[in-house]
Amino acid sequence: MIELTREELKRHLGAPIFGQVGDTADELGLECYVVGGYVRDLFLQRPSQDIDIVVVGSGIAMAEALGRRLGHGAKVAVFKNFGTAQVKYRDMEVEFVGARKESYSRDSRKPIVEDGTLEDDQNRRDFTINALAICLNRTRFGELVDPFGGVDDLRERVVRTPLDPDITFSDDPLRMMRCIRFATQLNFHIDDETFESLCRNRERIGIISRERVADELNKIILAPTPSKGFIDLDRCGLLSLIFPELVALQGVEARNGRKHKDNFYHTLEVLDNISQRTDNLWLRWAALLHDIAKPTTKRWEPKAGWTFHNHNFIGEKMVPVLFKRMKLPMNEKMKYVQKLVGLHMRPIAIADDEVTDSAVRRLLFEAGDDIDDLMTLCEADITSKNSERKQRFLNNFKLVRRKLKDLEEKDRIRNFQPPVSGEEIMEIFGLPPSREVGALKSAIKDAILDGVIPNEHDPARAYLLERAKKMGLEPRHG
Ligand code: CTP
Repeated sequence: MIELTREELKRHLGAPIFGQVGDTADELGLECYVVGGYVRDLFLQRPSQDIDIVVVGSGIAMAEALGRRLGHGAKVAVFKNFGTAQVKYRDMEVEFVGARKESYSRDSRKPIVEDGTLEDDQNRRDFTINALAICLNRTRFGELVDPFGGVDDLRERVVRTPLDPDITFSDDPLRMMRCIRFATQLNFHIDDETFESLCRNRERIGIISRERVADELNKIILAPTPSKGFIDLDRCGLLSLIFPELVALQGVEARNGRKHKDNFYHTLEVLDNISQRTDNLWLRWAALLHDIAKPTTKRWEPKAGWTFHNHNFIGEKMVPVLFKRMKLPMNEKMKYVQKLVGLHMRPIAIADDEVTDSAVRRLLFEAGDDIDDLMTLCEADITSKNSERKQRFLNNFKLVRRKLKDLEEKDRIRNFQPPVSGEEIMEIFGLPPSREVGALKSAIKDAILDGVIPNEHDPARAYLLERAKKMGLEPRHG
């Protein structure tokens, strides 16, 4: 956060568009302000694309007048139902809205809207840091209007509602998710009173569409240290409402003095680890879900202790169910997460043992182009506090990665295409499509993956003839 005087604010609003907006407002005799995220991000020195303008009067009339002033190249879009308008000019998007006073009914996010003053408008905003306004009219250009101490809160890194938080959250319960999202993205602390209100109002999240909740969740997952958001979501009780499967990962059980780890905190550690390596939202999702089936697969076995057999496969099955319920995309992104969850134990199993060429080839065959992401996930998954053990795994992973590279160059397994096709097999032996053809095809594949033959046509064909002979099959033409 930086301190900005009026002179400095003026300089920051040096782009001609701000002067043009101010002049248009002066011409119409209206007050106008840049507000919300754009102002917050000026102080935080974060890049911000969307410019939101509040006009004390008609936002639509302002946008239309600005459009006329800018002439050619300005595109004005009016959203009559919402009383808003947008002006696109060069690479900028400016949203206009009239200052509003809003009241809400208890079971809907749809407000009853009336015209209001700037103060009314600031009152109805979600957080003090989002309720800052800077005047754009010529005589007051660069003047900051900060009725709730938003700049102080930026300085102290606090997320707080401008009004009684019970009112702010009850008016629009999505703001509870936004509260935690901003605290996570900005690494801010949630004010105590605001936090207590999150706890009290959490059930109201039920009136929010799952798409919007997922949208905020994705932003939390994309934050630099996403665990912070999940810990806050858990502490206020929202997590058990929106994502109970994660809460089920919590807890440590001991029997005969043997404990398993707390899989919730382990998962969050994996998510934070991976977030240092990738901004790929879906790879981060895979980290969040990699152990999701541990609670359902947990068993106590007197000899082995706590086991979670097949949690990767059961987890793989849970992914589409969770994505569907949470209104996340049911497309190739989901399939990718599913695949990584299903395969996440494989590199560890290889690295725990002798790293054989055959095991690495098989892994490469199954992971295909997602092999690098899978390795990134598995490295993030090593959260052992025993540094010797951790180092051993990481060294073995290095070896797996090296072998992957060597074998890939040699054998081109990543996007495996059988060197002898099913058609060719049918043609050679005069066979119809049948189980035998399938068996011969997979025998060739296994021989390649086990390193018995190279991934090339002629050796594969020779191997095929040999195998077929053992099955009593002879080629049609000698
Ligand atoms: N706002 C609000 N309540 C909401 C959504 C938005 O009060 N549920 C207000 C806030 O003042 C916010 C502004 O509308 O600053 C713009 O909202 P939005 O574009 O969603 O957020 P930004 O603050 O711009 O931040 P980001 O772009 O990171 O979402």
